[in-house]
Amino acid sequence: MSRYIIEGGNPLEGRIRVKAAKNSVLPLLAASILTKEKVTLQNCPEISDIRNMLKILAGIGCIITRDDSGNITIDAHDIYCDAIPCVLAKELRSSIFLMGPMLSRMKKARISYPGGCEIGMRPIDIHLSGLRELGISIDEESGYLDCDASGAHSAQILLDLPSVGATENLMMASVFIRGVTVIRNCAKEPEITDLQNFLNAMGARISGAGSSMITVEGVEKLHGVTYTPIPDRIIAGTYMIAAAMCGGNVTLEGVVPEHLSSLIAKMSKTTCKVICKNDKISVRSKGRLKSLERIDTMYYPGFPTDLQTQIMALQTISRGTSVIAENIFETRFKTVPQFIKMGADITVRDRTAVVRGVPGLHGAEVCATDLRGGASLVLAGLAAEGRTELKDIYHIDRGYEDMAPVLSELGANIIRVV
Ligand code: UD1
Repeated sequence: MSRYIIEGGNPLEGRIRVKAAKNSVLPLLAASILTKEKVTLQNCPEISDIRNMLKILAGIGCIITRDDSGNITIDAHDIYCDAIPCVLAKELRSSIFLMGPMLSRMKKARISYPGGCEIGMRPIDIHLSGLRELGISIDEESGYLDCDASGAHSAQILLDLPSVGATENLMMASVFIRGVTVIRNCAKEPEITDLQNFLNAMGARISGAGSSMITVEGVEKLHGVTYTPIPDRIIAGTYMIAAAMCGGNVTLEGVVPEHLSSLIAKMSKTTCKVICKNDKISVRSKGRLKSLERIDTMYYPGFPTDLQTQIMALQTISRGTSVIAENIFETRFKTVPQFIKMGADITVRDRTAVVRGVPGLHGAEVCATDLRGGASLVLAGLAAEGRTELKDIYHIDRGYEDMAPVLSELGANIIRVV
């Protein structure tokens, strides 16, 4: 099993060019089966979540080519299978995104309940009730979700919660449905707007993404496209926080600062300096930072749950006490015992964590329990005194391309051992 060995204490200095967002690329890959023509996505990172999605697409008959510069081409001309193998679906929660496009293209889909990051219940009831409102029948009897869209029709859908995945699934499920489908209380994340832009570039007629109401006017067919997905705001945010924790001067390039406005607003309240210019964000930090009084995770444009554990890592060594409320996923404090092993002072009650900043962390043997938690332990290791051994880094490989080389380039002392 691969591990990271980190010798903490080095400041970080340099530039990182951010690639396409995992959370955009995954639904876009799923959406690429909506056309028989070729689709190319540019600037994609080499991460295991994307590799798994490509395996699923290959499994239903897509021909996939990938070059060294991150271009992935999907040819879904001859897809032949309407079932997603159970093993693959369990490995990747995003396999659920394939329901919408499969139903649009093939009118049938068979998929087992999806897996994914171990951060809570992650139900799919909102996906299923939205699909049912579109007239899609779903039989859950067999342990699989057996879906049939032969009687699909346009609808007015009101989501119980602004779920990112459900919004995306319903946009893809309704793209060919005659008439106008309206989705209300939908998610407003930048990845939703990216999906709208991508589908419209293929000939769809969707509007409203970025607001709480999306309108989908059904079209007959979609055509191929070459598209560059939005940059990964969570990767950018993770390295911004790394710079804040370790000290130094790091510039993220190829980013959209607006997508990170909640993190930038928070970091600007500490004693580090955040400078945004066009598609760049620079973080300069020196010495121990002031704690943030309160952080509440929320739907976009609120503070993202996907950066909650990283900001917690920063709070562990800041001056003062911070209260962190996790409002999106119920078990996203799983990394807390690992931080405590490194000398952090944190108490958790239900969905709230109180972090009392300590002057410094020390290296320890710790374990990644999920994707973002794993990345946060890397940050803690970089800022700690001494040696940290981080196990189960396959969680990190799901979403971070070459984390050790990227950080080494900035001056960190981190190696991957097998
Ligand atoms: C997406 C992101 C994930 C991020 C999350 C929240 C991808 C691939 N993943 O996940 O990184 O952490 O958004 O920003 O884009 N819910 C239900 N029923 C449902 C669906 C969701 O109750 O049918 C609840 C969830 O339990 C959670 C909340 O809604 O409490 C938000 O989940 P959702 O927005 O759907 O997250 P994902 O799309 O799974």
